[in-house]
Amino acid sequence: MHSSTSHHNPASRRGEDCQTWLDLPETAGESRNQVHLSKAAGAGAPAELAHRFAALELFRSDFPVLGQAVNGNPLIYFDNAATTQKPFAVIHAIERYYSKDNANVHRGIHELSNRASAAYEAARARAAQFLNAGSASEIVFTRSTTEAINLVAQSWGMANIGAGDAILLTEMEHHSNIVPWQLLAKRVGARLVYLPVTGMDGLLDLSRLDDLLVPPVKLFAFTHISNTLGTINPVADLCAKARKRGITTLVDAAQSAGHMPIDVQEIGCDFLACSGHKLCGPTGTGLLYGRQELLEAMPPWQAGGDMISSVDFFESSWNIVPHKFEAGTPHIAGAIGLHAAFDYLDRVNRTLIFEHDRFLGELAYERLSGVSGIKILGPQKGRAGLVSFLFDDVHAHDLVTIMDRFGVALRGGHHCNQPLMRKLGIISTVRASFYFYNTATEVERFIDCLKESLKIFSGA
Ligand SMILES: Cc1ncc(COP(=O)(O)O)c(C=O)c1O
Repeated sequence: MHSSTSHHNPASRRGEDCQTWLDLPETAGESRNQVHLSKAAGAGAPAELAHRFAALELFRSDFPVLGQAVNGNPLIYFDNAATTQKPFAVIHAIERYYSKDNANVHRGIHELSNRASAAYEAARARAAQFLNAGSASEIVFTRSTTEAINLVAQSWGMANIGAGDAILLTEMEHHSNIVPWQLLAKRVGARLVYLPVTGMDGLLDLSRLDDLLVPPVKLFAFTHISNTLGTINPVADLCAKARKRGITTLVDAAQSAGHMPIDVQEIGCDFLACSGHKLCGPTGTGLLYGRQELLEAMPPWQAGGDMISSVDFFESSWNIVPHKFEAGTPHIAGAIGLHAAFDYLDRVNRTLIFEHDRFLGELAYERLSGVSGIKILGPQKGRAGLVSFLFDDVHAHDLVTIMDRFGVALRGGHHCNQPLMRKLGIISTVRASFYFYNTATEVERFIDCLKESLKIFSGA
């Protein structure tokens, strides 16, 4: 089965970024010694890193989407911050589940239901391991980061935030980590306070933190990696400061969980939210990590089957955590696909992914700096694997449309960061966001295509 799937991978016929394609197993990296390393993979990186990054290229063949041509050009998929592509390991896990085990969980006594339930709970245990949570009961399956944050706002927030209290956010938050708190604040009479961003260099103004992280602030919710600036925030330090002051923390790990090892105990957060679909998992999957004692004290947020222990005509009692927060039939296939994604990313090596994605982020920043008239957002060094930029006289959407003709998939717009954009005096940017299956060669081609596109706009 392994080799037949790779045979059908169109990437295996391209032979362009990837010089030699043999019969690769479901995880191509397992046969890395058999495959040629592309010289361009780590251009500009120290030799040892270049070699290790080149090994990452082998994993490209695990992603059937990547081998195609778009508008007559090889696809360069640089929209990974929106969602990542899915490897065969994930696709096959879902197919296997629907082909062999499909049944509802936690309710049946028959064989298929038992298998589905075991697989669903095994995925939860694997998620706990992936984030180094203390136990599987600290993991709630959600649809997304957005749903995980809404869960905390509506359950923990309604129980713990009241009139006169404040919620501290940062100016670089995604709408998903602003709007749920706005709704909560309006309902209970609380207010929002923002830790400022320094400017186009996109750093948190930490000199303001001591003044802002004080009563009546009850919660400090912040992003690990900014999806527009590429800034990596010092989450463990921020959590430690909040903890000393008795303030609850929520980390939005949407952009970090698939790109680096995440250890919730080391970070020291109370809650952490992330999206499965941004880490090679299926769409419609996400996780909420919550410290056990907090989850246990929280009321349910959605009601229905599975989240109860007993129901009477007028009263009900709740299931134990985390089931108390999972009403109705869950996304069983999604959890099983996510389990495969966790296994896959650990085989690829999350530390290496982090180094690689940061390398491409810095490489893109450096190459873009040479393009005339460009403005680049976020820090030059120590950035994550994404870069946002703009031109005064070319609209981001127009540029993204022209780049698509070259087969380069980018994103243009406000990236759900409208308040940040307004603060910076801009409306939209073009964003290129990278993953371990992208290469330095692709970054170079992206720059060439960008220059060609700009010529079209200038009429040259
Ligand atoms: C920083 C950040 N937070 C939250 C989200 C929301 O993720 P989802 O759409 O999976 O809920 C995103 C999505 O791009 C993001 O980048």
